Amino acid sequence: MKQASGKSLISFAGGMPNNDLFPVKQIDEIYNSLPENIKKLCFQYGPTSGYPPLIKSLENYLKNKGLDVDDNRILITTGSLQAISIITQEFVNEGDIILTENPCFVGALSVFETYGAEVHSIPIDKDGIDIEALKSKIETLDRKPKFLYVTPNYHNPAGIIYTPERKKELLKVLSGTGIILLEDDAYSDLYFNEDEKHLTKAMKSFGVKDVEIIYTGSFSKILGPGFRLGYMLSSKEIFAKAESVKQALDACTSNFMQILANEFLAQQKLEPYLAFLRGEYLERKNLLQKHLKTYMPKEITWNEPKGGFYIWLKLPPHIKSTDIFKETVAKGVVFVTGRTFDPSSKKDDRLRLSFSNMHKEQIEKGVIILSETIKKVLENSKIAL
Ligand SMILES: Cc1ncc(COP(=O)(O)O)c(C=O)c1O
Repeated sequence: MKQASGKSLISFAGGMPNNDLFPVKQIDEIYNSLPENIKKLCFQYGPTSGYPPLIKSLENYLKNKGLDVDDNRILITTGSLQAISIITQEFVNEGDIILTENPCFVGALSVFETYGAEVHSIPIDKDGIDIEALKSKIETLDRKPKFLYVTPNYHNPAGIIYTPERKKELLKVLSGTGIILLEDDAYSDLYFNEDEKHLTKAMKSFGVKDVEIIYTGSFSKILGPGFRLGYMLSSKEIFAKAESVKQALDACTSNFMQILANEFLAQQKLEPYLAFLRGEYLERKNLLQKHLKTYMPKEITWNEPKGGFYIWLKLPPHIKSTDIFKETVAKGVVFVTGRTFDPSSKKDDRLRLSFSNMHKEQIEKGVIILSETIKKVLENSKIAL
């Protein structure tokens, strides 16, 4: 974040919306038109589970995604990272096993490490988690993992979306094992093509009864990370324990932010804003894709994302993204190195390019610098061979 916020840098690093995209005017209007008593409430503590009107609005929002909000409970959290943290505190003791994807969202990895979990990671391909590798991992472990953490929609950092078949297969593998599924869905609203919206359907909405699924979501990518607003949807039993954990952590999430977010939802401002964001991100993705095609050497490959924020570039196996980074940062271009997302911090033949935070006019220059650097490192590696 430090490097990403440097003024003179061209940053492909930040996995967040660009400052120029935030709905500043709408939030101004919302706050200014709040009744005095609600303005006062903004400054107050609130219930640990969340500001009741926001819970109601979220129920509607999640119902629209096909999620069952009657048999489950919502806990509002201070960012969805806090939800991940709460769930880990609820289920994991030092030395317990957590399964993750490889690569994996680094924020979750740092939570799991903080709680002393033993992390075992399973590779993903373009369609989702490797089912055979998952099965064999579960079979060979001497203890039952506490949960499997996945980001099926517009993965951070891999940019992929699980196919519906892969989601079903995953549920089948977990079925009857007692391993909880932690489904992190921070990006599902950011699809590029309306026709592909159905692909974002959450596994928690599939109606599978014999897999316990905890679903988490966030306002960070659709409203602004500064809101620090997330939530979890879980069974009533898991909710009750999570609520006590949260109470001890921060008593409640900021009422100020919850009230503003609730008005944003309740006044039907989210959908039009999302339509605007989708257009902006699609444009940035297309530009990045176009310039990569023009400038990257043929040895470099990447995915074409269908939504979200990320392109996950693949280097030849003998080239390390950390070496590329050292060179590009000196030239004012930053990204996130592959090893950041490997639980064992080793696999380094990838780099994550985020287009969400880019100024459109900077993309080409950034890609040229990156491509030239990669070409140079490739040339040097040939000479060394
Ligand atoms: C996959 C994923 N989950 C969760 C989060 C955390 O979001 P929040 O800001 O709500 O804590 C992020 C943020 O980068 C993310 O990429």
